Amino acid sequence: MYDPMEAGNALAGLTPPAKEPQRQLYFVARLREIVARESQRLGRPLSACVVTFGCQMNARDSEKLSGILSEAGFELSEQENADFVIYNTCTVRDNANQKVYGRLGVLNGYKKKNPNMKIALCGCMTQEETVIAKLRESYPFVDLIFGTHNLYAFAENACRAYTEKGMVVDVWKETDKIVEDLPVLRKYPFKSGINIMFGCNNFCSYCIVPYVRGRERSRSPKEILREIEGLVADGVVEIMLLGQNVNSYGKNLEDGISFAELLREVEKIEGLKRIRFMTSHPKDLSDELIEVMKESKKICRHLHLPLQSGSDRILKAMNRRYTKEQYLALAEKIRREIPDVALTTDVIVGFPGETPEDVDETIDVIRKVQYDNAFTFIYSKRTGTPAAEMEQVPEKLVHEGFDRVLKCVQDTARMRVQRYQGQVMEALVEEINDGANAPAALSELGAKPEEVLLTGRLSNNTIVHFPGMADQVGTIVKVSLDECRGFYYLGRILED
Ligand code: SAH
Ligand code: SF4
Ligand code: F3S
Repeated sequence: MYDPMEAGNALAGLTPPAKEPQRQLYFVARLREIVARESQRLGRPLSACVVTFGCQMNARDSEKLSGILSEAGFELSEQENADFVIYNTCTVRDNANQKVYGRLGVLNGYKKKNPNMKIALCGCMTQEETVIAKLRESYPFVDLIFGTHNLYAFAENACRAYTEKGMVVDVWKETDKIVEDLPVLRKYPFKSGINIMFGCNNFCSYCIVPYVRGRERSRSPKEILREIEGLVADGVVEIMLLGQNVNSYGKNLEDGISFAELLREVEKIEGLKRIRFMTSHPKDLSDELIEVMKESKKICRHLHLPLQSGSDRILKAMNRRYTKEQYLALAEKIRREIPDVALTTDVIVGFPGETPEDVDETIDVIRKVQYDNAFTFIYSKRTGTPAAEMEQVPEKLVHEGFDRVLKCVQDTARMRVQRYQGQVMEALVEEINDGANAPAALSELGAKPEEVLLTGRLSNNTIVHFPGMADQVGTIVKVSLDECRGFYYLGRILED
């Protein structure tokens, strides 16, 4: 029988190294041989497509998957009828899961037309036993399933998907391992996420993340700084330090430093222009961090500070470990020390037991803090979390509360965002905006014929669109913020 792994494989017969990352690099080489042979057989290159659901951490993981696929010889594509399609999933709310199940049906259709196609699933959803059971039962055409803890072993598992029959499932419950130095393919050449820690220890009672991402593990400061230096040498000007709760960074490290100390070290890296981070848990945000932000020339003027609820009773049931008063005092302190900071937040409406009066408390905080933006979510029951056992709020009441919160968020955010109208600020040009409204915006802004509409991001995370040259993507330019349009600006580049 044709065996792509063994047929004429130069590495066949060699024992894979036991040590990481050498082991995975060995499997990348094996995968490369499989890909080369398959593509010779088919008379065309093999394509691969990585689809990301969920948060920044998943986006970063997808860059690691893309790095391995590209190293193995796949041509990366955005088409979901590629030869190797991988869904990097999210399970924070049920609608994220439903989206994946729906799209898997479409993938099955593609696979019927292209029997060589491989379908893989990874990410937070696959850490749930109920999900694996459902996939085995109803989605047998999936070739490979692996979890969040062994993402680094993707090359090894991808080889298995080509050489073993049936569905390959490799999901681990936990890990204490952090494997460094595997290939990464960045989505943007000029900006990058960096994991500084994995997992979460907070167990907010509604949240599934601690169950699917495991316990908190920090990367060593040395590895983080080395990675950032490498990225900067490769053209990166903006980085985002990633963790579920960056303020507790370093707590499980022997030679640990605090998050604020880490930021001080990152600031020293020459050539790096902007530093962002996500997410800060209010209970762990230190005065030292505020101090470092205040003094910094590179840390962006944006802090995402999830509130979740403004009601003390609900906050307690959520296990958030702060009160409304403590949160307000913290927000006030931040605003006092760093007046130009933009605060954004996450809010959940419809947590078990929430009454319209509790929603009033949330709205009160939104009014008082005046967020630049707030992401409002309808509570989603996650099996296995403590909140799933509590009495759920009737849907009609949830929607009423949600609409009230959303309206308040929109009103206050519009006011906040427009406060810089007429000012000049620096923007990092992120991409060319070729949306349907681009031609109208260009003519309105009096663009020259050779100019395109560019999209930039201000330090405070607000988006601004302006005419410019395509080769300005990735550079920092001075922009006058001429006109606020709700959540974004239209502007013009000012020549130095
Ligand atoms: N670690 C981050 C949040 C990660 S999840 C933090 O604590 O700030 C991102 C957001 O999803 C959360 O802030 C919360 O608002 C929302 N979320 C988490 N679980 C949810 C659930 N079960 N239903 C609805 N929203 C949820
Ligand atoms: Fe979830 Fe809370 Fe951890 Fe954030 S801090 S990931 S909301 S458990
Ligand atoms: Fe979703 Fe996992 Fe992120 S559940 S929000 S992708 S950590």
